Amino acid sequence: MLHKNLKPFPKDFLWGASTSAYQVEGANLEDGKGPSVQDVKVIPEGTSDLTVCADHYHRYKEDIALMAEMGFKTYRFSISWSRILPNGTGEVNPKGIEFYNNVINECLKYNIEPLVTMFHFDLPQALEERGGWEKRESIDWFVNFAKVMFENFGDRVKYWLTINEQNVLILSGDIIGTTKLTGPDKYKSLYQQNHHMLVAQAKAMALCHEMVPGGKIGPAPNISLAYPASCKPEDQLAAQNLNAIRNWLYLDMAVYGKYNNLAWAFMEERNATPVIEEGDMEILANGHPDFIGFNYYSTATVKWCPENIEETFGHDQQKTRMEPGVYLGAANENLPHTDFGWEIDPMGFRATMREMYSRYRLPMIVTENGLGAYDKLTEDGKVHDQYRIEYLRKHIEQIKLAITDGVEMMGYCPWSAIDLISTHEGMVKRYGFIYVDRDEFDLKTLDRYRKDSFYWYKKVIASNGEDLSD
Ligand code: BG6
Repeated sequence: MLHKNLKPFPKDFLWGASTSAYQVEGANLEDGKGPSVQDVKVIPEGTSDLTVCADHYHRYKEDIALMAEMGFKTYRFSISWSRILPNGTGEVNPKGIEFYNNVINECLKYNIEPLVTMFHFDLPQALEERGGWEKRESIDWFVNFAKVMFENFGDRVKYWLTINEQNVLILSGDIIGTTKLTGPDKYKSLYQQNHHMLVAQAKAMALCHEMVPGGKIGPAPNISLAYPASCKPEDQLAAQNLNAIRNWLYLDMAVYGKYNNLAWAFMEERNATPVIEEGDMEILANGHPDFIGFNYYSTATVKWCPENIEETFGHDQQKTRMEPGVYLGAANENLPHTDFGWEIDPMGFRATMREMYSRYRLPMIVTENGLGAYDKLTEDGKVHDQYRIEYLRKHIEQIKLAITDGVEMMGYCPWSAIDLISTHEGMVKRYGFIYVDRDEFDLKTLDRYRKDSFYWYKKVIASNGEDLSD
C-alpha cells in the first residue's frame, strides 16, 4: 500500500539496542559465576572462547555512557542465570546481584529504560547436567530464577522479555550450541523441551504481573515470515507449514495459550506431541503478554518438499532449511546478502510486522535486527560502516511504513549496541555501533571506538526517526 503521508514514530518510542550476557560480558567464571552451557560447548574452530568477549562486565560504565551519548531510551540486555544462581537453583550469588544492580542503576542514571531478557541461550550447566529443559522440573527452575530477578530488580526494571528466540533454540539448537539431538526421537525430546519452556514462560508472565508493580512482559522469538518460492499452490502450503512451525507455534502459545493446529499436526506426524500435564493448558491460557518482542533478520523462502528427500543439510540460516514432506528452503533471488550470506529483506520486515499485528493485536518492539560484517578500524580510529547505516536505514523506513499501516510499534533495538561474540562465527562478525578493539584471539586494548553508524543512529534518535539521512 502506498501512503501519501507517513505517520511519525510515537513520542515515547523506545530507541535503543541489544546485547546478551554470554556474548558481551566475559568474566564467564569470575566472582562466583557458574558455567553455562555456552561455557562448556565445543567452540567452533577459529573462534575465541567466552572468557573476555567485549569485557562488558568490567567496562559497563563506559559502555552505558556511550549508549547515553547516542541518546538511547532503552538498553536491552540479558541476565546470566548462572551468574545469579551458579547452580541454577539454590544459593544466590551476591556478586551477580550486585553486577546487575549496577548495570540497571547506571542505565537509570541516564534515563535509559532497562529492557531485560531473562534467558538468552545460556542455561546453567548444572541444570543441563540434571536433564535440562527436557525435565519437567525445568519449569520450577525457571520460575524460581524469575522470582529471584523480580524480587531483586523488579523495583526498577519495568520491561521484561522471557526467553530469547525459543524457536531458534528448538529449530537450530545445534548451531547455537544448545542442543545436539539427532535420531528419530529428537523431535519428541525437542517438543517436550518446548512445552516446558512454554509453561515456564506463561508462569513467569503471570508472576511478573503479581510481583512487579507496573511490570510489562513479553516473549522474544525470532520471527521471519516465510514466502512461497512460486505461486504453485503446493509452495504456498509449504510456506504455511514453515510459518506455523517456526513462527506461529510460539506466538499463538504466548498470546492465546493454544497450540497452533498446523504445528500440532506436524508434531503428531513426527510422533512428537509433548506430554501435557493436568493444569498446563490453564497455566498457558493465563500467562498474558503485554507486548511482543521479536528479532528480525530476514525472511525465509520455501517450496514444497517431497517426503522421501534425503536430509542432507540441517536447519541453518536461509536456504539450508528443510523438513521432508513439509517444506524445503530455497534461495530468494530477489534479495542481496550480507558478507556472511544472510539475505537482506527490509520489505519483508514490514510484511512480518503487518502479519504479526493482524494476528495478535499487541504492541510490538523489535528486540534484534542488524548486519554482521567485517568492520575495519582505520589508523585514525574510525570505522566507516556505511553498509550498516544502509541496512538500518532501510529497516527503520519499513517500521515507519508499518506504523502508517496501523501497526502498533513501541520500540527498536538493533543487534547490537556494541561489538560482541557471535553465536558461532566469533568476534570477526561484528554488529555493534561501538567498535571493540580486539581480534579473535588477540585481545589488544579492548578500547571502544564510535563507528560512523554511532553518529548516524544518534541523529536518528534525536529526531525521533524523522532524520535518516547520512
Ligand atoms: C540472534 C541471537 O539469533 O541473532 C543473538 O539472539 C545472535 O544471540 C544474533 O548473536 C546474530 O546471530 P549470529 O549468529 O550472527 O551471532
